[in-house]
Amino acid sequence: MKKQGEKNQETQTGFDESGLKYLFLDELKDIYWAEKHLAKALPKMAKGATSEELRSAIQQHLTETENQIHRLEQVFNTMDIKVVGKKCEAMEGLVEESKNMLEETADGSLTRDAAIISSAQKIEHYEIASYGTLRTLATHLGNTEAARLLEETLKEEKNADVKLTEIAESFVNESAKAEKV
Ligand SMILES: [Fe+2]
Repeated sequence: MKKQGEKNQETQTGFDESGLKYLFLDELKDIYWAEKHLAKALPKMAKGATSEELRSAIQQHLTETENQIHRLEQVFNTMDIKVVGKKCEAMEGLVEESKNMLEETADGSLTRDAAIISSAQKIEHYEIASYGTLRTLATHLGNTEAARLLEETLKEEKNADVKLTEIAESFVNESAKAEKV
């Protein structure tokens, strides 16, 4: 057990502040790389979509993603550190999977769209987890401006996920109608 004088940077809650700051910056660099990687992949996903509805939803999310990249740069600025990405193996894998899904499904099919939605939702969920963690860490570190920016993006990611679910549900209805003909 540590004596009181040996507590160093640990707060009353038992967290090591410098460790949390390191974790925050590491996660920030990870999601920055991930967003930039995703921005490069989204046009291909939009192009591959069968329905206009899905295509425009992905294009809209590309615009959002570009704003999110800019917002992350603002977060770096609040910490007064250089804007730099760190390769995110998870996003690289998720994007790779989405490319495979495109190749494995027929052009112009609803199955293609279902596959794109599946890939896109896996990506959204990764981002939601990352932004949730980052927002909480920013709040804990007392960086309210970073927490506000990250919360804004977190809301956008959650909305994008809901929208994808709505599109997927509309497909189920369409397929059901087709079966009745
Ligand atoms: Fe994003």
